[in-house]
Amino acid sequence: MRSPLPDYLTEVLDACTDGSGTLADYIPELANVDPDRFALSLVTAEGTTYSAGDDNHVFTIQSISKPFVYGLALEKRGFEAVLGKIDVEPSGEAFNEISLERDSGRPLNPMINAGALTAHALVADADSPGTAIEEIRALLSALAGRELDIDEKVAASEMQTTYRNVAIANLLRGYEIFCDDPDEVVAGYVRQCSVDVTTTDLAMMAGTLASGGIQPRTGVQIFSRPVVRQVLSVMATCGMYDAAGDWLSTIGIPAKSGVSGGLIGVLPGQLGIAAYSPRLDEHGTSVQGVAAFERLSRDMNLHLM
Ligand code: DON
Repeated sequence: MRSPLPDYLTEVLDACTDGSGTLADYIPELANVDPDRFALSLVTAEGTTYSAGDDNHVFTIQSISKPFVYGLALEKRGFEAVLGKIDVEPSGEAFNEISLERDSGRPLNPMINAGALTAHALVADADSPGTAIEEIRALLSALAGRELDIDEKVAASEMQTTYRNVAIANLLRGYEIFCDDPDEVVAGYVRQCSVDVTTTDLAMMAGTLASGGIQPRTGVQIFSRPVVRQVLSVMATCGMYDAAGDWLSTIGIPAKSGVSGGLIGVLPGQLGIAAYSPRLDEHGTSVQGVAAFERLSRDMNLHLM
């Protein structure tokens, strides 16, 4: 028997289509996308997938890579080393603000760009810093359950305008938060953000966090339970930047947004959810993606509190 869920997801997409918001244009290539694409995918902790809309449409992962790279840094370097370099406090500021702890220069959390640049640098091995991006691409592929590629056109486009990330990386180097070449860290981080995904891939990644670090389709243990708990905690408190409190109180799901229009949410033990629609609000979050999550949370009673 066919599950009624895809019909319901199509209804959600129809109800949440309103055409408001604007495409990100500070990365020139992101302004060249079809603004009307809209997709929703769900993956249960057991690996069943439900999708509706443009779920085969490919877009760059952008900031949704951040929780996963933070998880990789925790797995590789351990909690003490990572917490010594990146705090876990909400910044209440935009993703590209210079939200650093006074005196130490430690980024306030791993979801803002300062923390994500640091997590990227933590993944890099001192003797071969350029290989971090390959390790990260392999991690994201394992989470999606298929081989993912980097969109070099989007990466090159971001490299032309990424002055703020270059400035933040230089500041972090100045504070000795990392000792790698700041330009190399930025180049790797930008390519990390340019990994191509679909909503089905993102729902699989979110589903891996929902199932305690085990990829629901392949059964591979990618993250340990303590790492999953840490990643979900910072997603809940910091994943939506300066809208984190509003998001958690209204929708109630640990989440992460990306400036290309992707959005993921994780219900521990239950579901990974992903949406895509590229028109953004003032926080750099998908307008229709937020509407779809609001609707799912209300209809399916998903609020965790
Ligand atoms: O560093 C940047 O500005 C982008 N590569 C990623 C920003 C992003 O996705 C912010 N989240 N909404």
